[in-house]
Amino acid sequence: MVSSVERRRRFVDALCREGAITRPEVAAAFAAVPREAFVSEGFQGREGAWVTPDAEGFLDAVYTNDVLVTKVVGGRATSSSSQPSLMAAMIEALDLSPGTRVLEVGAGTGYNAALMSACGAQVTTVDVQPDVVERAAAGLRAAGVSDVDLQLGDGYAGCPAGGPYDRVVVTVGVAGAAPRWLDQLAPGGFVLVPVRHAGHHPVFRVARVGDGSVGAAAVCPAGFMPAAGPLSAPYLGAHPLGSGPLPEPVLSRPARFDPPLDAFRYQDMWFAFGAWDARTTYAQPPGAVHGGCALLDEAGTGGATIWPDGTVEGSGPHAEPYAERASALVDRWLASGRPTVPSWRARLALDGDPAQPIWVPREWHLAT
Ligand SMILES: C[S@@+](CC[C@H](N)C(=O)[O-])C[C@H]1O[C@@H](n2cnc3c(N)ncnc32)[C@H](O)[C@@H]1O
Repeated sequence: MVSSVERRRRFVDALCREGAITRPEVAAAFAAVPREAFVSEGFQGREGAWVTPDAEGFLDAVYTNDVLVTKVVGGRATSSSSQPSLMAAMIEALDLSPGTRVLEVGAGTGYNAALMSACGAQVTTVDVQPDVVERAAAGLRAAGVSDVDLQLGDGYAGCPAGGPYDRVVVTVGVAGAAPRWLDQLAPGGFVLVPVRHAGHHPVFRVARVGDGSVGAAAVCPAGFMPAAGPLSAPYLGAHPLGSGPLPEPVLSRPARFDPPLDAFRYQDMWFAFGAWDARTTYAQPPGAVHGGCALLDEAGTGGATIWPDGTVEGSGPHAEPYAERASALVDRWLASGRPTVPSWRARLALDGDPAQPIWVPREWHLAT
């Protein structure tokens, strides 16, 4: 029987090998904190069945680079322990040092808070679901973590009592950043937040810039479950959340990339489509196992799907103009030198619910 400590050592080695962990203090945190303590009531396995701690393969599943869904309501995941490589990338982007004051929005299982605490940060973490907070408290206790301040509440309000913060890190997908996060930041601080874009929630670094306006720099592609409350408020010009299954394609334009773009380059192209066209989202064509990047038509029942090999498929009543537009966007991405996700910047504007506004991406440009 392989011990938890040994499993963690192998887990950290694997995350380091694939480049997800580059900093020694982050490796040490992943090696020190037992992930299983935060999923003691089990999680939903890949096949849909609940995996409990007494199940064969429980620890193997805990120490894989996979999201562990810990709460499902009406068929939808409403809490989880995020994918470890994404947690590592975000913790590294926070640039923590001993004493860094961090507010986390989306406590979930408490595992990420425990990892940040193991990096020396002073962590306040908030979650909107009472039962999730109770389980996170039990997880933190079981892991012997006593210095995380765990609060129940809507993260839209931040947590003024624990501020000011050097960092706000959001581990749930939002439509825009809450103004109070910026208000609760110490000078020089920033917010790291997954903001809805083109059917995903890529991570952005958000901060006030010199003239008092708010700017965002894209950090990495990511997928998160959407937040509850005003953080997910709809606004005019937002990308569609994703489509239902699209109808069978009625036209197809030939492949352009041989070999096809790898997953990272495909994300780069997809992100650029989102910056240039607000109809960009995720769509699932009929019979396909995985969806892809699509421009959705106004009725949301057709448009054009663009695949990693550059094939453009058009469907629905406006298949031809949408396919034309998609091909033009591929041309533009190529002519722009294939910009990567982290090369994008945005100016943010207040939008969403006027009573509880959020900062949403408005004007995109490439870093110079
Ligand atoms: C992906 S999980 C967070 C993972 C977590 N950081 C961990 O280490 O396990 C997202 C969490 O965000 C919470 N959440 C959703 N909307 C929220 C809101 N408006 N304010 C605070 N938490 C929210 C959910 O209840 C859920 O537990």
